[in-house]
Amino acid sequence: MYRTHTCGELRASHAGQTVTLSGWVNRRRDHGGVAFFDLRDRSGTIQITINPDLPKEVLDQVANVRFEWVLQIEGLVQKRPDGMANPKMETGEIEIIAKNVTILNPAKTLPFMVSSDADLPDENTRLKYRYLDLRRERLTKNMVLRHKVIKFMRDYLDEKGFIEIETPIMFKATPEGARDYLVPSRVYPGQFYALPQSPQQLKQLLMVAGMDKYFQIARCFRDEDLRGDRQPEFTQLDLEMSYVHRDDVLALVEGLFTEMIPAVTPHKKLLSSPWPKFSYREVLERFGSDKPDLRFGMELVDVSDVFAKSEFKVFQSALAAGGVIKCIVAPKSADMSRKEVDALTEVAKSLGAKGMPTIAISAEGVKGSAAKFVTAEEAEALKSKTGAGVGDLIVFASDARAVANKVLGGLRLWFRDKLDLADKDMMAFAWVVDFPFFAFNEETQAWESEHHPFTMPKMEDLPKFDTDPGAVLSDAYDMVCNGYETASGSIRIHRRDIQMKMFQMLGLSEEDIQAKFGHMLEAFEYGAPPHGGMAPGIDRLVMLLADEPNIREVIAFPKNQTGRDVMADAPSAVEPKQLKELHIKFE
Ligand code: AMO
Repeated sequence: MYRTHTCGELRASHAGQTVTLSGWVNRRRDHGGVAFFDLRDRSGTIQITINPDLPKEVLDQVANVRFEWVLQIEGLVQKRPDGMANPKMETGEIEIIAKNVTILNPAKTLPFMVSSDADLPDENTRLKYRYLDLRRERLTKNMVLRHKVIKFMRDYLDEKGFIEIETPIMFKATPEGARDYLVPSRVYPGQFYALPQSPQQLKQLLMVAGMDKYFQIARCFRDEDLRGDRQPEFTQLDLEMSYVHRDDVLALVEGLFTEMIPAVTPHKKLLSSPWPKFSYREVLERFGSDKPDLRFGMELVDVSDVFAKSEFKVFQSALAAGGVIKCIVAPKSADMSRKEVDALTEVAKSLGAKGMPTIAISAEGVKGSAAKFVTAEEAEALKSKTGAGVGDLIVFASDARAVANKVLGGLRLWFRDKLDLADKDMMAFAWVVDFPFFAFNEETQAWESEHHPFTMPKMEDLPKFDTDPGAVLSDAYDMVCNGYETASGSIRIHRRDIQMKMFQMLGLSEEDIQAKFGHMLEAFEYGAPPHGGMAPGIDRLVMLLADEPNIREVIAFPKNQTGRDVMADAPSAVEPKQLKELHIKFE
């Protein structure tokens, strides 16, 4: 028997028991002939005390022991002497007085320390030795949290009558807006499977099959530009229901998360329950983003009317071109340094602003780059409309509405981070609904679906399909939290005629439609029930719950920022024989 207990489970109540533990040496200290090890396994760490009265052969062995050696310890659980308890360790009230030590496996010196995060090596080194990196307490906790989140989802949905069904990984292209990963077929020369960007088509076909209330902890594969919140393969809680309207789906998912957060992360608070619901238009106007961070205020204010007669050229020309003048008020930022204002201006420009007029309000009056163009009357109207007071900085964007919103939305987040305005233990969930159905791609001069092409338009907007596509709204919804899009979904098209029309609007030829989606269209002719669903991204959610800056920290074996697996060194070249079998030649 390797162990009677795990390292992290022992408490003062076990005092007096003889136990056997196995684990890694997390730390070692030697003190006046006594050696202290912290022994670690997945459950936690515990102090082992090796007294000099042990037999010589045991002490000789112990003398060699270094970090990360694997040991088995038999010993007596004892309460630590008064004043010696370590409140930072969950097992800090006790220690194990070793009776016997067995070395199960020595270890080479590790490429980096895992007992603390103090000297974190660069990320590629961490990922190359991910099996060591995962030994860190922080990452171990992240894996346990991820497990708890997934288990909660499974239990909750099972309780609500859902069933989990696996769908194929080798399938056909399912468009979600990214490039596909392709798998060449050996048996069918020149033909490819595509890895699913999501199980979207399959879950809809499951509804046609009568598998109402489906869910799956689903892997998705997308070849797209990577960011902190994107990986080429990631995990969704994919779900779909029949005979539902939008609010049925939202209520289910809101219920799931509202119960899950206190169960898996009791220190996190929900900003509000029920969650607020905003239209797409409203979040853009008020927060300058379709994934607003609601943990703080600083909403965008339209002050076009205040400056209707302004002499300021920048404002005049924006209004004359049909644009707007909007602003945000940054609290207690009137005294920002030149350097900070320059940095902020760079952010504004990177978001599309031509400049960044500001007004700082002080007891003496107004200062800042736009101050000399603002009349006393305008300043008063501005203060009363925005609520700005002494010490505040007003930052303007005067441009086309979409540009002004985007710029101020970005600056709002810059101030959030600079002024530490958002409570990290707050989970500010909200729904965003009423998205436009189509987006016009200026580059290709064609309409594209804003969500995916299986999304139902609002029925009352159907007549606008041909006359005013840009005004058609969709029955799609996003769940957002703390500035991230954490889920999206929609009510689906279940009628062949509407689905055909949708594909035609996207410029697909009859031939394309049949080749790509013939199976879907045919299925819809055999009695497809009305249905809808959504897919929360599990990686993003666990990232937020674990206070991690990116999703790589909550995935056991992620790709690095350029999409490589640096541990196994993939992608990598393959044998010429394999290529030949797959009928592949390189140019
Ligand atoms: P969508 O493409 O919006 O919708 O994806 C849903 C959620 O999945 C997460 N997500 C990602 N997470 C990590 N890395 C990525 N590359 C990545 N891409 C997306 C996000 C996102 O909100 N089939 C539809 C859902 C539906 O309509 O039911 C879909 O996949 O959290």
